[in-house]
Amino acid sequence: MQVIKTLAFKFRPAKDLLLLDQTLLPKKKAFIPIENPKHITRAIKALKVRGANLIGVTAGFSLAQYAFKNPKAKNLKSLAKQLSLARPTAVHLSQAVQKVMKQKSPSAKLNQAIALYEEDKKACESMAKKARPLIKTGDGILTYCNTGCLATAGIGTALGAIKQAFQDKKQIHVFVCETRPLNQGSRLTFWELNQEKIPCSLICDNMTAHLMSQKKIQKVFVGADRISKNGDTANKIGTYNLAVISHHFKIPFYVVAPSNTIDSQSQTGQKIPIEQRAGKEISSYWAKHKTNIINPSFDVTPRHLITKIITEKGYYIDRI
Ligand code: MRU
Repeated sequence: MQVIKTLAFKFRPAKDLLLLDQTLLPKKKAFIPIENPKHITRAIKALKVRGANLIGVTAGFSLAQYAFKNPKAKNLKSLAKQLSLARPTAVHLSQAVQKVMKQKSPSAKLNQAIALYEEDKKACESMAKKARPLIKTGDGILTYCNTGCLATAGIGTALGAIKQAFQDKKQIHVFVCETRPLNQGSRLTFWELNQEKIPCSLICDNMTAHLMSQKKIQKVFVGADRISKNGDTANKIGTYNLAVISHHFKIPFYVVAPSNTIDSQSQTGQKIPIEQRAGKEISSYWAKHKTNIINPSFDVTPRHLITKIITEKGYYIDRI
């Protein structure tokens, strides 16, 4: 039987789906079995599995597998609806659910889910190749959130481009923002880069202007959860700050994302839905009051602050 295995999941199409619980990283590497679409809906909401591309791919697997194992299930449509709403900003989740549900037979659903995985893996490889000319030996590269194997079906989007440069033997140094409030940078990206022995330093999110002023950073590479037709780009909250600071220091700001991130329904970034998460994610020992906390999970970087958007097909926005 075909087994699909990445750092983030193990999938045996007619049998089981195991997800690496990313909330436990880097302290513990534990897999959770996903029995049905309700289960993965909860896992996606809790960020046990996360990253725009990966939630689409794993949601597709779970839905198709459930349909395959329970061909008479009457609740598939409502489960699919709940699943597609689990996180609103990344376009990939609802896209994957729609594509799988469009297929009539359970085996066609399963084939569609596998095709989505393969497409994403291939797109990551192509984006990394397309980004090759943008990274040079000696570059200090700043990255944000996690855009690697823990966010996609392949080597990653922005992190894929960085890994490619390292494989090409370019001498680079990666600056990893911790990415508050949930620390996808310090917990996941720093871990992923260290696993691959890619030279990197962990920094707090508020250290970026200082490091740029010291000429430690030559390029910024980030991913995207949804890109509007005009190029405005939604990504992890704090990406917009980085773009503004990069603009100030005239540092190229690159977005790497597969072309299915471009949402033809959103003309501009104003139409992109921004996920609001629970305040308890940012209240801490120091916050005396646990109410009146604002916690948007994403922001929208306007296109004029983006130097290039690199997709598997080429550049979508191309300045300089
Ligand atoms: O909330 P997360 O961890 O799912 O946010 C992930 C990001 O913002 C990534 O940069 C984005 O998904 C692009 S990488 C596939």
